[in-house]
Amino acid sequence: MSVPLLDLVAQYREIKDDVLAAMMEVIERQSFIMGPEVPQLEAEIARLSHTKHGIACASGTDALLLPLKALDLQPGDEVITTPFTFFATAGTVHNAGGTPVFVDIDPATMNISPEAIEAAITPQTRAIIVVHLFGQMAAMESIMRIATRHRLPVIEDGAQSIGARRKVDGQWRMPGELGSVGTLSFFPTKNLGAWGDAGLIVTQDDKLAERLRRLRLHGGSRQYMHEEVGTNSRLDTLQAAVLLVKLPYLERWNQARKRNAARYTEAFTGHPSICPPAIDPANDHIFHQYTIRVPQRNELQTHLKEHGIGHAVYYPLALHLQPCFVHLGYRRGSLPAAEAAMDSVLSLPVYPELTEQQQNTVIATVNSFYA
Ligand SMILES: Cc1ncc(COP(=O)(O)O)c(C=O)c1O
Repeated sequence: MSVPLLDLVAQYREIKDDVLAAMMEVIERQSFIMGPEVPQLEAEIARLSHTKHGIACASGTDALLLPLKALDLQPGDEVITTPFTFFATAGTVHNAGGTPVFVDIDPATMNISPEAIEAAITPQTRAIIVVHLFGQMAAMESIMRIATRHRLPVIEDGAQSIGARRKVDGQWRMPGELGSVGTLSFFPTKNLGAWGDAGLIVTQDDKLAERLRRLRLHGGSRQYMHEEVGTNSRLDTLQAAVLLVKLPYLERWNQARKRNAARYTEAFTGHPSICPPAIDPANDHIFHQYTIRVPQRNELQTHLKEHGIGHAVYYPLALHLQPCFVHLGYRRGSLPAAEAAMDSVLSLPVYPELTEQQQNTVIATVNSFYA
């Protein structure tokens, strides 16, 4: 039996009729740009995120780029972030005119290390970007303490963590709730995926929300009046309609991912070679990815491929070692925990529709490699 890493068709079959009906409504109205579904989605995602504002935009990348542009970065301005993330986290810093400063990760959770952030702060530091990796939030309480002490804004890249939570002082906090802004991606493979590119920014800050709404619309608050130069990064009404139909399923889908993750962890716990993902006890992890750490990772990949088991390496080359950032002067050995992660991680199928039988096949195939 072959098992895909992700089966979007299985999800499509479940929701097809409702999504197509919602899309047809938009089409019948011909309200493709900023139709009523867009502000409705913004309000619903803001509620889920415990924030005052939601600002929909064209992608998760733009959701990062717009708040970074709102920082008005000057040459030499630094933004501290993790090297163990999708490229957009740091690419947007460069595109907003800043310099990414990469710091190491916590070796257990693979999220950015708060101590490493504090050690990297200089007079040029303008912001911190935290990534809530694979569905698990970073140590926001420690990071916010550091950021407050140094008066630095925190951007929370929540692209992989919609619906994740972290208990801070006895209260559940959502991605984007405590930082200056939170960013989400609805790329089709995400836990809540659109049928194309889509993103959203959440914030508690009224003024910043207004500015971000302007920046996504060529920098104008009124038609043909431009206070500053922005861009076109609206969210299509069609994508908002898709997401509104899918949003009520998110909790159930995240629960199914958690159940699948728990089954894997039960099967792999105590295995001499396989290290299951570490969950920080403060976190409610929603397993965008189920990522094990293993020796002979590349050989295991070949074995899984031969047996038709979907898998992926997120991420094979940490961002501080990417060719485009050579000029920043990092080399192998600069950030050892991130480098150890990139050499040993392997993500396995954890999507909600994965059957027990499929999962047993994945577990047996992984185990047979180390037998
Ligand atoms: C951590 C992270 N940040 C940013 C993005 C960018 O999102 P998008 O692909 O919607 O532009 C992604 C996903 O693709 C991501 O995983």
